[in-house]
Amino acid sequence: MREKERARPSQRSLRRSIEMKAQDKSHKAYQPSLPSESELLAKSAALREQMEQRRSLRFFSSREVPERVIQDLIMTASSAPSGANKQPWSFVAISGTDLKKKIRKAAEKEEREFYEHRAPDSWLKDLEPFGTDANKPFLETAPWLIVVFRENVDPMGGKNYYVQESVGIACGFLIAAIHQIGLVTLTHTPSPMNFLSSLLDRPANEKPYLLLPLGYPAEDATVPVIEKKSLEEVAQFYR
Ligand SMILES: Cc1cc2nc3c(=O)[nH]c(=O)nc-3n(C[C@H](O)[C@H](O)[C@H](O)COP(=O)(O)O)c2cc1C
Repeated sequence: MREKERARPSQRSLRRSIEMKAQDKSHKAYQPSLPSESELLAKSAALREQMEQRRSLRFFSSREVPERVIQDLIMTASSAPSGANKQPWSFVAISGTDLKKKIRKAAEKEEREFYEHRAPDSWLKDLEPFGTDANKPFLETAPWLIVVFRENVDPMGGKNYYVQESVGIACGFLIAAIHQIGLVTLTHTPSPMNFLSSLLDRPANEKPYLLLPLGYPAEDATVPVIEKKSLEEVAQFYR
């Protein structure tokens, strides 16, 4: 028998291994259909092209988005990996006009402090190309705001692990999902964000992580012209 053939498990031993694992109720088979190499090349190129079109939007249409869509987006985000599968996040979705208005007012108060006093000159200079200021009308215009909270400990006080990393990955899933279905969002971080805990009456184990307005872009929306780093700048291959 040639080396390659010996290394590959026979169909019978593969089936036996699956049967044995099936008896262990803590695991289940994971056997998705595998793409061929040409499918892989086509899929990765298409995904790259699609994801490279994602932009942070600061101009939203008030056109409504069904709540069911928001539920699906949140559950997509919540399928993300997390330290010891603790899923240390809460997604608070807001569409009520009054609450959005309160959030805008409180966020703009913090942002005014930031732009007028707290931000060092170097930070303000880095923000210049984006033309941002303390005014955040999108917090009222966008049909939905999702506030993501991180849970440093679980509701019973139990330990969570790699909370920042886990919640960051879940937010990445959420942002990618919003783009994939043709809507837009902004990764917004009015700083500090503690006002969100009190306005939304959140439990003490939760800390605000990101505020994401989401919806359709305004018809006359623009985005800053920016450059993304090249493959050579962001990746090194050790072959
Ligand atoms: C953690 C994080 C915080 C951000 N906070 C803000 C913010 O408070 N306000 C804002 O207008 N943009 C914010 N942004 C958006 C960035 O400015 C934007 O992602 C960046 O300029 C790249 O543009 P792009 O998302 O269109 O590729 C934030 C982005 C990240 C990842």
